[in-house]
Amino acid sequence: MNNKLHGLAYINNKFIDTDKKISINSAIDGTEIGSISALNKEQIDFAFESAHKAFYKWSFLNFDQRIEYILKFAEFFLEDKEVIANLITKEIGKSYPDALTEVIRSYEYIIATVEMYKKELVNPIIYDDSIHGIKNKIGKFYHVPIGVVLAISPFNYPINLSIAKIIPTLLVGNTIVFKPATYGSLVCSLIAKYFDKANFPEGVFNLVMGKGSEIGDYILTNRRIEGVTFTGSTDIGKKIAKALPAKNIVLELGGKDAAIVLDDIDIKKVAKEIVKGAFNFSGQRCTAIKRVIVLDSIADNLVEELKNNVLDLKIGNPFDGVDIIPLIDNKSLNYVLDLINDAIAHNANVITGNKVVGYNLLEPTLVDNVSTKSRLAWEEPFGPVLPVIRVKTIQEAISITNASNFGLQASIFTNNIEKAKLIARYLNVGTININKSPSRGPDIFPFIGVKDSGFGVQGIVDSLKAMTRIKGIVENN
Ligand code: NAP
Ligand code: G3P
Repeated sequence: MNNKLHGLAYINNKFIDTDKKISINSAIDGTEIGSISALNKEQIDFAFESAHKAFYKWSFLNFDQRIEYILKFAEFFLEDKEVIANLITKEIGKSYPDALTEVIRSYEYIIATVEMYKKELVNPIIYDDSIHGIKNKIGKFYHVPIGVVLAISPFNYPINLSIAKIIPTLLVGNTIVFKPATYGSLVCSLIAKYFDKANFPEGVFNLVMGKGSEIGDYILTNRRIEGVTFTGSTDIGKKIAKALPAKNIVLELGGKDAAIVLDDIDIKKVAKEIVKGAFNFSGQRCTAIKRVIVLDSIADNLVEELKNNVLDLKIGNPFDGVDIIPLIDNKSLNYVLDLINDAIAHNANVITGNKVVGYNLLEPTLVDNVSTKSRLAWEEPFGPVLPVIRVKTIQEAISITNASNFGLQASIFTNNIEKAKLIARYLNVGTININKSPSRGPDIFPFIGVKDSGFGVQGIVDSLKAMTRIKGIVENN
């Protein structure tokens, strides 16, 4: 156990060890790298009660006092950036350069959130009744905190998607109970360390850990919860929405982002962009391109160029900065393989890949002529496989894009910008990218999922507003 790490829970400003440990194995090769303390029901209740008690004091601080605490946290967080990035790579297998980018992006997110909070939220919105031709009333409408917020994050951006929930929630005056994904909870346990060092008031930040399948349903019954900010799969997102109706809820869920390719493009440039968008982090991004929908007239040439780019991808150990890394677990690998087999059974052609070449390590796989009858056309693999669906018309491309249960983002590749803008109007997704892969950033942009891809909006300004309600004070003359 010498070099092994242990992640402690953190409640009411105390680190908590428990009898129940969950061992954490590296996604790189399955070796045990440490363990975390899993909480029982009483300890979880205590976390919510602590957050509830802390709310009054924290929410009554001046906004600049809260900013001071948050900036202290940010300072300690940044100081440890290499340690955090190293552990992200070791634990979930993200390539080290991407892990470091994730940490720095999170720091920049904090700083930008503080700036936008001062600019957009601290002053009230003011209306009067001059619309009725009189001026007897002045109404001041404030963004006020809601209380205790539950934040639940996924494994794929363990730090960034946690920070992007925790910081805006606290800054506007809420207190928090944070539950990270079990894969990634070791690195997330470091977050508590920086809150502790920054000397936050007791109970403002609480970290609870344990398997979602064991404690998740119980957590969702807690009566102190006034808001939930969640990123993860659609199944769990729906469970949350059902368990906590009429609360402030933000759900960022799965995706099946389409790249629609018209026939007037620079094939080399577009193929390179699509392969990057599909295969980075082995496709374990909600915004990865998860299907190419291409006009028949250009399909052969595009597939050939996609293949050349896929063959250039580097596979292997994340510490070597490769593109294709092991999937998070064996269940995920088998799920991807099942989808590929089902596509083959529906007469698709594997152009390259489809070989397991190491521990949960699948070669990047390009599958052509994918039928809309196959699961790969509709389900989210969260792995390194790119299906190509050939269509005869743009209308067909739009209709297949919109037939998905998901509606996160889409890309349109064409040299005709006006045509792209027209197609964009017909697509039922959160955001459309013209001539670029889908992406959540820049973080100041609202990040939106429709249909099974989410509810509510994230982003630097939107995440601040999401965990507030509007309170009015009306002065009558
Ligand atoms: P997941 O399995 O849904 O897990 C997400 C979180 O929910 C984890 O913290 C998990 O804990 C927890 N959880 C599990 N069961 C729960 C329950 N009954 N009640 C409450 N919480 C519960 O998702 P994932 O595998 O980590 O991430 C992959 C999915 O997230 C993909 O579908 C991807 O598209 C989506 N995603 C979406 C976005 C976006 O912004 N739209 C971003 C990233 C990922 P445990 O880990 O302990 O099970
Ligand atoms: O899957 C995480 C999602 O939020 C994507 O973020 O920056 O890779 O587009 P990004």
